[in-house]
Amino acid sequence: MANIQWILGVEPANLPSEWRATVKELFLQETGEVYADVSIASLPIPAWDGNLLLVDMDRYPDPSSFKGLMWALPFLEDGVRIAAFALQAEYQGFGWGSLAWNHLVGVCHANQKNFIQLEVKASNDGAIKFYRTRGLEVKKHLENYYKSGLGYMMNGPVPSNSNSN
Ligand SMILES: CC(C)(COP(=O)(O)OP(=O)(O)OC[C@H]1O[C@@H](n2cnc3c(N)ncnc32)[C@H](O)[C@@H]1OP(=O)(O)O)[C@@H](O)C(=O)NCCC(=O)NCCS
Repeated sequence: MANIQWILGVEPANLPSEWRATVKELFLQETGEVYADVSIASLPIPAWDGNLLLVDMDRYPDPSSFKGLMWALPFLEDGVRIAAFALQAEYQGFGWGSLAWNHLVGVCHANQKNFIQLEVKASNDGAIKFYRTRGLEVKKHLENYYKSGLGYMMNGPVPSNSNSN
């Protein structure tokens, strides 16, 4: 029986390169985005409560233990931006994403952050539904953000209770 957990991550630049290779593969498989190793390494995600890795603790720290991530960063004075949020396909739809989201809401409360913002492909119906259900709305159309087509900038207020959904 796998022992799956969200754990706190390190800065992308300090991830072992084998781990960054699995991150790169995840982004390609689940978002269709092609990242170079150096682009992943230079993502400005601090080692903080908004940097989460989904891992199988029975395999950790082997790179094969890596199942997903939520990489968020403090944004402007009172916001948080989710720069990346993806789980391997076989781990989607079981509540792991909701768990990370609720954790992030708690992080926002602890750090006086009032809104959450992110970019998503306009074609990504599943993720857009996930965010809408959690109070985010499309605020801008992004014409040149994704190579593959239209993007949306979504944001919304942090709910007052982290278990409100
Ligand atoms: C988006 C994502 C992180 C959500 O995490 P998750 O663990 O799958 O989500 P949960 O199981 O907690 O919640 C499922 C909810 O999300 C929505 N959802 C997420 N992906 C969906 C999909 N592909 N199709 C339909 N609904 C989807 C549903 O609204 C579902 O609602 P429900 O609880 O009423 O069934 C995950 O599905 C994922 O990695 N998707 C692929 C990568 C991606 O699109 N990332 C977002 C880029 S901005």
